[in-house]
Amino acid sequence: MKKFKNEVNKRIKANSMNRNLKTVASQFMLASIKPKYSYNFSWLGRPIIQYPQDIVVMQELIWHVKPDLIIETGIAHGGSLIFSASMIALLEVSKLIKSGKVLGVDIDIREHNRVKIEKHPLAGKIRMIQGSSIDEAIIRQVHDFAKDYSNIIVALDSNHAHSHVMAELNAYAQLVSKGSYCIVFDTLIEDMPEDMFPDRPWGKGNNPGTAVREFLKTHPEFEIDRSVEDKILITVAPGGYLKRVK
Ligand SMILES: C[S@@+](CC[C@H](N)C(=O)[O-])C[C@H]1O[C@@H](n2cnc3c(N)ncnc32)[C@H](O)[C@@H]1O
Repeated sequence: MKKFKNEVNKRIKANSMNRNLKTVASQFMLASIKPKYSYNFSWLGRPIIQYPQDIVVMQELIWHVKPDLIIETGIAHGGSLIFSASMIALLEVSKLIKSGKVLGVDIDIREHNRVKIEKHPLAGKIRMIQGSSIDEAIIRQVHDFAKDYSNIIVALDSNHAHSHVMAELNAYAQLVSKGSYCIVFDTLIEDMPEDMFPDRPWGKGNNPGTAVREFLKTHPEFEIDRSVEDKILITVAPGGYLKRVK
């Protein structure tokens, strides 16, 4: 097993320096956004708006960290909430944690989505709060909920404007436990062409990537875990897997 792990690590390092592979991966990212590739998938029956590579690596991180709480901003159809809930359930049945929960925040939980999430077999693992993730009352509710948990992962996937993600990082990153992660999705907007998101408030220079860069200047307790993107190469969160190191 040790030999196998060493071989994998060597290969990941080599892949991350393989110019051809990296070029093709970024071409895929560029070509797949407009056709809405990330909307093609579901997790245990609920649409999840993620790339499969990010989902697989989230599974690895969750299994490694063994959180008892995962806080997510941005629920949409609930796929990522159900994914996190399924991981919490697996940690519980494996007796790696006693019990855990997923807390989702969304400014607009559509009724049909809420009903489907509440009827899902994993609904018991999930709590949802409706409101803006940067509203003071909502931040307070999330902090109150988090008080009962000791090992927390945070995933930010709501409004992708710089100021919003900055406010989310300031509100929630402090809840992330040492050795755990704050995952900031859609940092890749910074690497996309200027005219890629004409109908959105975010774009080049104003996105989760720029927010992470600003946040890290004053938060040495977080470091970008580059080993994640070195491994998957295809990700919406390059530089967005932040590990809490102190
Ligand atoms: C990209 S989707 C989330 C996708 C989901 N995490 C998944 O993987 O399937 C973004 C969501 O953020 C929500 N949102 C937008 N602005 C928000 C805000 N200020 N606070 C909380 N949620 C917000 C939207 O309503 C939308 O459901």
